[in-house]
Amino acid sequence: MLAVFEKKINKLGLNEKISCRHEELSNMEFEKEAFHIISSTFTLHHIKDKYPMIEKLYKMLKSGGRLIIGEIDMDATGDVRDPKRFMRMMDYLKIEFSLALQEGGIDAFSRMYDNGKKHILNDGEYCISFKQWETLCQKASFKKIYIRAVPDFEWYKVLIAVK
Ligand SMILES: C[S@@+](CC[C@H](N)C(=O)[O-])C[C@H]1O[C@@H](n2cnc3c(N)ncnc32)[C@H](O)[C@@H]1O
Repeated sequence: MLAVFEKKINKLGLNEKISCRHEELSNMEFEKEAFHIISSTFTLHHIKDKYPMIEKLYKMLKSGGRLIIGEIDMDATGDVRDPKRFMRMMDYLKIEFSLALQEGGIDAFSRMYDNGKKHILNDGEYCISFKQWETLCQKASFKKIYIRAVPDFEWYKVLIAVK
């Protein structure tokens, strides 16, 4: 992903303004109050223990800074053997499987199907609902929190938390 990003930066001639750094989410080493904005799409759900990460992101923001999270609005918490949890998650996954099949054929479907299994088994994919993201941000002392829908994508949302 960083290689794709760096290619775009080069193409736009923004090398002097934007730099890339690879960090492990659970062990980020940025300074306190380093950023006005921290934004993330479809990445934070990979971390199982989210509160320490949100706390760290809060510390990395300047006062008045914003954390912007784009994610899947799906509660994958609970016992992986619970059929009710499975059915709840399948509401989202069946749409993803069908879209992959329709737009990317068998190859895309296979990738999405394997990924769906990871979501169901909480194997590297640990989605939570936006209500749960909101609660974590409140606990970390963010002052204002806004949640926005993404048009045409019922299961995706954006959260903006202001420090
Ligand atoms: C689904 S991709 C999303 C990429 C991009 N943000 C986007 O919206 O297209 C998830 C990204 O999270 C990164 N990732 C997963 N676990 C991570 C971790 N523990 N620390 C840092 N990055 C991680 C993966 O390498 C991958 O690039």
